[in-house]
Amino acid sequence: MARLMVDPAFVVGALDRRLFGSFVEHMGRCVYTGIYEPGHPRADADGFREDVLELVRELGVTAVRYPGGNFVSNYDWEDGVGPKDQRPRRLDLAWRAIEPNQFGTDEFVAWSRKADVQPIWAVNLGTRGIREAVDLLQYCNLPAGTALSDRRVANGSPEPHGIRIWCLGNEMDGPWQIGHKTADEYARLAEETANAMRRVEPDLELVACGSSNAGMPTFGEWERVVLERTYDLVDHISLHAYYEPRDGDQASFLAAAEEMDRMISSVIATADHVKALKRSDKELTLSFDEWNVWYQQHFPGELGLGIREVGPLIEDSYTVDAAVVVGSLLITLLRHADRVKIACLAQLVNVIAPIRTEPGGRAWRQTIFHPFALTARYAGPTVLQTAITGGPDIHTAAFGKLPALWSTATYDENTGETAIFVVNRSETDTIDLEIPVAGGLIQHLALYDEDRSAVNTADQPDRVTPRTVDGTEIVDGVCTATLPPASWHLIRLS
Ligand code: AHR
Repeated sequence: MARLMVDPAFVVGALDRRLFGSFVEHMGRCVYTGIYEPGHPRADADGFREDVLELVRELGVTAVRYPGGNFVSNYDWEDGVGPKDQRPRRLDLAWRAIEPNQFGTDEFVAWSRKADVQPIWAVNLGTRGIREAVDLLQYCNLPAGTALSDRRVANGSPEPHGIRIWCLGNEMDGPWQIGHKTADEYARLAEETANAMRRVEPDLELVACGSSNAGMPTFGEWERVVLERTYDLVDHISLHAYYEPRDGDQASFLAAAEEMDRMISSVIATADHVKALKRSDKELTLSFDEWNVWYQQHFPGELGLGIREVGPLIEDSYTVDAAVVVGSLLITLLRHADRVKIACLAQLVNVIAPIRTEPGGRAWRQTIFHPFALTARYAGPTVLQTAITGGPDIHTAAFGKLPALWSTATYDENTGETAIFVVNRSETDTIDLEIPVAGGLIQHLALYDEDRSAVNTADQPDRVTPRTVDGTEIVDGVCTATLPPASWHLIRLS
């Protein structure tokens, strides 16, 4: 029997709802035939797919990063504004597809209003720099009366777009990035770009590029160098990470939250080291603005793609195990809610995404949709510490011995509701869990399946969905629940 303790007195921090962000890149079919498909039976007057918009709202996404990703590092934003019949077809060097530029800045802002999400903008610090970043900012955010803002007005948007969050480039530490830079080179450029952007609007939220993943040879040192230059000028440092089963090691994959947890702790340590060096009172926060499961071993690499029209790219189908892992990664983000203020599930539609579509046809929820949607819906405003005693351990090749259970909880002092999120990462053990509680049980939902490799498809869109768990009960102030192997759970208590 394992025991989970939670108490509203033990607080991690306030939950920033932007933790439930996502990511739209001009990559594969995320934009074209994903969120945008004029001529689709469910397209609205702007060409936005309403079936997809409905799913985005149901997913509970709060903020969406755009337009990349690797794409942004060779993107000329000017190509994507103005009359559509005059926009150029351009070879995108990141994914080697011909970008038709029928969807750009103004379309994304219009789409995000309909989706009710806050846009997060990335600027091109690969092939371009300070001037273009500041031009784009002026185009987007200045009121009418300057050459750039008047251009936006002429393109049909009289009011400023009001974009508050700006990423200073994307994965600039990665040799695959167009315009890849050393830490020193990037740090100087980010510093000067931030400086110039703050001349337009001093109170923007700026995100400096951290490492592309914790396995980068420069991880740690990159953050130190970048933050020593930019600490006073930026609000957040970014983290990116994708997880997959390596060499068939499903046990380590189920424990991927450990890798994310260690990465977050390392970046916090580095940021706080720079804070100490600078004798600063400012506490830097984190933007985990790309995370997900991605079966990268299936990806042929950019040079394996060939130059082509926009079409399917890394449309991974997610298993039950992937959904359990995504649920556990969300638990990790919540556990660090005091320092992680933005997080983006990458990506939103078709490209390693919770939502899949057919061109001209159906849209459906992948397995990973469900833990995300339920966490976004039921996580309360305050994240609480949880402590677990007595449960079994798992033994993983990647991380050694770990507790099988991984948990967090949130509290809503207006409703009195506590939401407990817990994952059983054991492949073999069913775990009986008890939770001392003061109130009653509202609901226990779980995601698991006898066939852990089951996926949802267009023909079987609800093959894997959350289920209500029978048998969970409260007796004499103790809630008892049974957690099958490889399962994700939401237990709501009043
Ligand atoms: O999300 C896919 C790609 O992964 C993004 O373009 C890049 O930023 C990351 O390497």
